[in-house]
Amino acid sequence: MNKAKCIVDKDYVIAEVDPRLYGSFIEHLGRAVYSGIYEPDHPAADEQGFRQDVIGLVKELGVPIVRYPGGNFVSGYNWTDGIGPKHLRPRRLDYAWQSVESNQVGIDEFVDWCKKAGTKPMAAVNLGTGTPQEAGYMMEYCNYPAGTYWSDLRIRNGHKDPHNIKVWCLGNEMDGPWQTCSLSAEDYGKKARETAKILKWIDPAAELVVCGSASPWMPSYPEWDRVVLEHTYEQADYISLHRYYENEENIENFLASFADMDAFIRTVAAAADYVKAKTRSKKVMKLSFDEWNVWYIKKQTRVPWAEAPAILEDQYSLLDALVFGGMLCTLLNHCDRVRMACLAQLVNVIAPIFTEKGGRVLKQATYYPFQQVSAYGRGTALKTLTTSEKVETGLYGEVPALQTAATYNETDGSVTVFVLNSHRTENSEFTVDLRSFGHATMLEHSIMDGPDLFAQNTFEAPFTVMPHTRPAGEGAAPFTVKLPKLSWNVLRFSVAKAGL
Ligand code: AHR
Repeated sequence: MNKAKCIVDKDYVIAEVDPRLYGSFIEHLGRAVYSGIYEPDHPAADEQGFRQDVIGLVKELGVPIVRYPGGNFVSGYNWTDGIGPKHLRPRRLDYAWQSVESNQVGIDEFVDWCKKAGTKPMAAVNLGTGTPQEAGYMMEYCNYPAGTYWSDLRIRNGHKDPHNIKVWCLGNEMDGPWQTCSLSAEDYGKKARETAKILKWIDPAAELVVCGSASPWMPSYPEWDRVVLEHTYEQADYISLHRYYENEENIENFLASFADMDAFIRTVAAAADYVKAKTRSKKVMKLSFDEWNVWYIKKQTRVPWAEAPAILEDQYSLLDALVFGGMLCTLLNHCDRVRMACLAQLVNVIAPIFTEKGGRVLKQATYYPFQQVSAYGRGTALKTLTTSEKVETGLYGEVPALQTAATYNETDGSVTVFVLNSHRTENSEFTVDLRSFGHATMLEHSIMDGPDLFAQNTFEAPFTVMPHTRPAGEGAAPFTVKLPKLSWNVLRFSVAKAGL
């Protein structure tokens, strides 16, 4: 058994967690919208056609913001196709996913859905086939109160009050050759800057996200990020990061995804800081990690020109949930800089929530770590000082076997420590040192582990992969627990409330 120690001290503050770290993403892709969040014929549909069983789970996940409508989809999307009477809306070819888009859900319905699901929209505008002025029209439609062509059209379409969408993404993955009308960094930088000027003139309170490189494996990375920021540093509030991981037959590498994600964040922050220095700016550019997940990209198939085809419907295993937990820790450990993040995606498409058309809804294995970190990873993120065995990976060199993160919730007087034990053969005797908190009690140790790394939840066996809890014992310090090999752990402690 390995031995490890983790010091959590309330003075080692990373930052207050912005709840938008637990955002997600709904794209017009596959069955994310149609038979995902929207299915008028479903027995659980409300009067607008939204599935209430899905809304219930979205609420349970505690998702504060949802990016919409894409993704790759947005780069060929005309947002005006999705407004007005539904029977007049055009059916269009969606170039990105080679599907047929019925436009039965558009920005007005999505904003209504967000209200019902207890979340807020993060809008993306089309900077592929779209123009800066069309983006401005969309903002005017959504956020301008009344008395202009677009704002009055919104009112006529049944939304008297402005949608007040506060976060806007300026395009999507614009350096990706797969993107409809991809651009060079120079051309995108200029287009994004001119779009940003229009959007901020209309709504100065809006926060804007410029596209970082589509992924660290792009040849344009990280030079793309530098060039784009040199054009947009004054107008942008965030630069985006996207990264997906898959198991390419090497489990050590896959489990160490958290370390790669860490390096990615540091590099984009460094590129942004270089531009900060070069432009003599006082502003620190924030990062929006607005697509992250496990995604078996190489296994995807397409169904050409179908309507809402069942594509990108990855079924997640225990192993995927472990990797996923490690990534959540990395996001928390960088929450001073990564202020927002979006799990891509939320329903059906590489998602924690999976539906049957006309039928049931399922919590995938990744549902659980997301729910736990979203619930307990709030308040103040604290640095963890963890001694850990190392694991040798082919791709990333030596990485710690344990990935940890911690939060302190002053309001309810609780500390939570999240730990991935990625060691394949060794359990760990793990001691948590809460030195600065005075009297503390251990409340719960929740564990996800199991004999079959590839076990998945199915409609027939929906509770195969989920956390179980160990009794916390009498709970006085020092707190030593066993972390099983290949396990995701959430350790909850009660400490004195602030000011007591
Ligand atoms: O989330 C699936 C796709 O991945 C998105 O449409 C795109 O932005 C990324 O490449």
